[in-house]
Amino acid sequence: MIENKNETVLAKQTVNRIEEIAGTYSGYRRAHAKGETYEAEFSPSGAAASFTTAEHLQNTNVKANVRFSNASPNPSTPDRLSIIKGMSVQFHLPSGEIANLVGVTIPIFVTKSPQTFFELLNTVNSFKEGKPHFRDMVKLFASYPESRAAIQIIRKLENTKSYATAAYYTMHAFYLVNKEGNRVPVKFEWIPEAGIETLAVKEMVGLPKDYLENEIQNRLENEQVKFRLEIVLGEPGDLTDDPTREWPKDRKRIDAGVLSINRIATEVSDDIVFDPTVVPKGIECSDDEILLFRKHAYTVSHERRSKGE
Ligand code: HEM
Repeated sequence: MIENKNETVLAKQTVNRIEEIAGTYSGYRRAHAKGETYEAEFSPSGAAASFTTAEHLQNTNVKANVRFSNASPNPSTPDRLSIIKGMSVQFHLPSGEIANLVGVTIPIFVTKSPQTFFELLNTVNSFKEGKPHFRDMVKLFASYPESRAAIQIIRKLENTKSYATAAYYTMHAFYLVNKEGNRVPVKFEWIPEAGIETLAVKEMVGLPKDYLENEIQNRLENEQVKFRLEIVLGEPGDLTDDPTREWPKDRKRIDAGVLSINRIATEVSDDIVFDPTVVPKGIECSDDEILLFRKHAYTVSHERRSKGE
């Protein structure tokens, strides 16, 4: 039972529950524990500049750090067994501000509210391996109709061939705000310049535990890894507070620029927190409860891992 609806209390309870299910790994993130950070540069196209005053979406290149991860809370989980992958981007703006964009390889989330996510964690033990078992799915579908769409997507998801060949979705709605103060709801997507490539089950046989980290390291020795930032423009009636629902596919998109990843970041501490609510002037968070709750859950995880717990 939830003892208190206060977000900080619920965040602690949620992180405790993740630890009970998946184990505690001292010093590691309580989700997306296995990952590496890379140095990158973002080159904006300028096409979003009339929608937002955000510095990185104007006309000047900005430095960024990118962390690729597999979603498991266990840092020993082989890349192939944790089907959802993460791409976290932190832009370092000329003014000193930071802008985060945190994406994963599925476009929608399993619950609309943090309370339901916590309850769902209590129902589904098999989530720790990335894919729910059939018996848990049946239970889940009956109890949580809002989770159906995301669970179906996860069940059909194939492993990506490379961190460089997946699209990453930041899921939540945000607002772009321009200098006249006009606000437009948007979602962000990273589209790989190398194209989408997944692995068939038979291609997975014998893959090393770190196949994705090894692959991107080899790739970066020969080329930059590039992603286009697409900004999807919401229209009246598109939900801004529900990450379990996709917006219609025909929404207009802005081609906002290209992120070029250069090399592994040797001078960046793993202490970095990719809190998705850290947005610069010109971007605002929406009223999505999951988005706003993540700040608290990530703080709890960071406090524990930075103390070596
Ligand atoms: C109730 C909802 C959620 C909870 C409780 C949660 C929990 C966590 C926690 C505890 C961490 C580790 C943070 C750290 O130590 O720095 C994390 C990382 C992460 N989460 Fe979530 N999360 C939630 C929703 C989401 C959603 C909707 C996405 C989709 C974009 C997402 C993507 C990620 C990614 C990519 C990371 C790795 C960040 C990094 O590279 O440092 N999470 N999550």
